[in-house]
Amino acid sequence: MSLPSPVTDIDRLMAELHQLASISDASVPPPAVTRVVFTPKDLEAREYLHGLYQDAGLEVRVDAIGNMFARWRGSKPDLPAVGTGSHTDAIPHAGMYDGTVGVLGGLEAIRSLQRAGFQPRRSIEVVMFTSEEPTRFGIGCTGSRLMSGALTPDLLSQLRDGEGDGYDTVRRVAGFQGELKDCLLMDEYYSAFIELHIEQGPMLEQEQLDIGIVTAIAAPATAEFTVMGEGGHAGGVLMPARRDALAAASEMILAIEARAKGSVSPDLVATVGCVDVHPGAVNSIPSRVVFTLDLRDIDGANRDLVLREIGDQVETISKRRNVEVEWRVLNADPPALSDQRVVDAVERATNRLKLSSRKMISRAYHDSLFMARVAPMGMIFIPCRGGVSHRPDEYSSPEQIKAGVETLAITLAELSSS
Ligand code: GLV
Ligand code: MN
Ligand code: MN
Repeated sequence: MSLPSPVTDIDRLMAELHQLASISDASVPPPAVTRVVFTPKDLEAREYLHGLYQDAGLEVRVDAIGNMFARWRGSKPDLPAVGTGSHTDAIPHAGMYDGTVGVLGGLEAIRSLQRAGFQPRRSIEVVMFTSEEPTRFGIGCTGSRLMSGALTPDLLSQLRDGEGDGYDTVRRVAGFQGELKDCLLMDEYYSAFIELHIEQGPMLEQEQLDIGIVTAIAAPATAEFTVMGEGGHAGGVLMPARRDALAAASEMILAIEARAKGSVSPDLVATVGCVDVHPGAVNSIPSRVVFTLDLRDIDGANRDLVLREIGDQVETISKRRNVEVEWRVLNADPPALSDQRVVDAVERATNRLKLSSRKMISRAYHDSLFMARVAPMGMIFIPCRGGVSHRPDEYSSPEQIKAGVETLAITLAELSSS
């Protein structure tokens, strides 16, 4: 098959990445980025993207949850398209590359093929998925979950943010109307879906490799624990009488860490990233604590087993400390496998570009976890400095990004030609 040599404008792409990074909550100083779904900054970022898509001559469509699709029409527009893309929302105090490299890089891959004079047979579509990050509504990938049928509109509408506002209300106020059920993709909407992303781990850098070819995405789960004790005056209540919800939660959190550290599976990871203490006063005994658990493993069955064991341990600690605990699982998703045909196409692209690569597993989750349910899926990873991500100092170099974009472009060219 004769494939084009993409003509990448890396300076332009880097300028766009920096411009997007500047669209961030003013409360965080650069280089930190915070862009939470359906906030004014999220909407501003979408506007910016919309303009770029139009400049590239792409047909833009936005669905009821705000997923944004930009299509480069192929010569056989009725055939299932080849999809790419990622997210532009950013957790509090994030870096500027997570997700954005896959969206703006996806756009640059298309532009680089346009510059090379390539004419796709199948349409190529870049997607910006709504809310890959779980920051606002507790679970991530709401856009791709809805597109793939992994989440029903009913369940989505039951999600509430920290202010108690429902997902459906918030998305409508943000300007996204229409029926959520219409977000579900038609059968064979995509013939393949491929996402470019920074690795968010240290392996590629340590092994001095250009590209990671993802063969599977680990299984994520999220749970929320509410511990209820008894509040009171920090001076007046003596220690034997206390039922301190935070002290109990602390023991639970340490038990979670110990359980994860003792796992037979080295891939199991557990993180408690949010703790909310009520009433949160210096001189008041905590009466209620809500904390989250993010639990992942490549082995979904082991992840589920550990989740059940953590639940048992938390109950045991609550009884011994005479507090109450309630917990609920927000999501417990199975892992996803990449499609061999897509993996092979990425590998051929790296060979063509003379880039070094390895097969690897994605420990972070991505919208591709859900796209794998509706399309043959693959992912391209590029190294990031020190493996650092979800931090302001997240960094991939222009050369590393260019290698990722060119690998993506050739993969898209091949998959859109078949
Ligand atoms: C995605 O942001 C993840 O937490 O893996
Ligand atoms: Mn992220
Ligand atoms: Mn991401």
